[in-house]
Amino acid sequence: MKTARPGDLVLIKTASETLEGTFLTRSELLDKNILVLKLPTGYNIGIHRKNIKKITTLRPAHTPLAPAPKAQHNPNLPTIAILSTGGTISSKIDYRTGGVHADYTADDFCAMLPELSLIANITTKKVLNIMSEDATPADWLAIAENTIDALRKADGVVITHGTDTMHYTAAALSFLLKDLGKPVILTGAQRSIDRGSSDAFMNLLCAVTAAAQWNSREVAICMHASMNDDYCHLIRGTKARKMHTSRRDAFRAVNDTPLARVYPDGRIEELAPAQPRRDTTPELRPIDKHVSLIYAHPNLHPQEIELCLKQKTKAILIAATGLGNLPIHTKEKILPALLKAAKKVPIFICAQTPFGRVHPNVYSTMRELSILCGAHYLEDMHAETALAKLCVAVTHKDPLTFMRENIAGEYTDRSLDDHFL
Ligand code: SIN
Repeated sequence: MKTARPGDLVLIKTASETLEGTFLTRSELLDKNILVLKLPTGYNIGIHRKNIKKITTLRPAHTPLAPAPKAQHNPNLPTIAILSTGGTISSKIDYRTGGVHADYTADDFCAMLPELSLIANITTKKVLNIMSEDATPADWLAIAENTIDALRKADGVVITHGTDTMHYTAAALSFLLKDLGKPVILTGAQRSIDRGSSDAFMNLLCAVTAAAQWNSREVAICMHASMNDDYCHLIRGTKARKMHTSRRDAFRAVNDTPLARVYPDGRIEELAPAQPRRDTTPELRPIDKHVSLIYAHPNLHPQEIELCLKQKTKAILIAATGLGNLPIHTKEKILPALLKAAKKVPIFICAQTPFGRVHPNVYSTMRELSILCGAHYLEDMHAETALAKLCVAVTHKDPLTFMRENIAGEYTDRSLDDHFL
């Protein structure tokens, strides 16, 4: 019997009925004799091969997207470079596993969203095609290098990225890109672009609007601000955090307020002062991956600290409990392990609560940590931001001075009520 290719629109005739739908790749869990069809209602059904009398292909599978017709260069519009790196915004559903995998690139976004060419002259580059849980400091560096390259000609850059670690990359870029003069906007999606409910298009539209029109030289994340498709928030790259696994408004400003609202109709409403654009040529700071992050917890074991030294770490960051505590008064010998580590590498302490700031002088534990181990307390800098900053700091002659300097808004002077959700 003639069969079909995944994605073909088919008519399947069985003894009792005729069904029209899209032929799908079978899930790994299903019997080899089951064919799967997506019905026009959106439901998938399985049909046993033995019940099928005939399969007719009505329309062959969708072939890869044709490249967008090259829009005429409009001298009245700014030029924006879109760099794609993967993530859900680049993904399609894989019906064998039910999961999504990165596939679409910046070129496809332009083909799918021709409105972008009304906002800016768009250039595109596929920099990576990974899910962001796999992103490493080497990938941050590749994105930063490509950003610097793109900014030679572009008035702003949009980076499409997986949402899971987008805030790490945004923080890393904030430190890697020295003397930035134009906006660098990261965006992504919580639902893949091949789903009707995808947030990708509005996020991308708002990100390109921000890169083109926002008077700022910030690295910022642009994602849905609410569950509705009304506007996106621009959140400073060192102060953004993914706060929900699946909501479209998962990103929040933490220990900060959003910098601006961007509406899909092109309006930008500034909510807080941002560093304005300037005419500078950005340079790249170096990065080193040999940095460790330890999460303080009731069962913390000294070997977790010792392991960092075995891995040739150059600095240890501890996401501490509460105001900056570690379990150093238990039977486990945490303090001796820390003292040993502190003789070799600097130790930094940030909060593991998403909100608030650490303080070295409140409890006696912290006094012991800061005085005996010389641990440096990182005020209201998030753990993710501190990790990215440390990767850059350890390449400096004086990592401590670099860590203390407020380079990209990672420290705020005061914790305000509206800095907490
Ligand atoms: C990823 O971070 O790459 C997967 C999840 C997402 O993009 O939303």
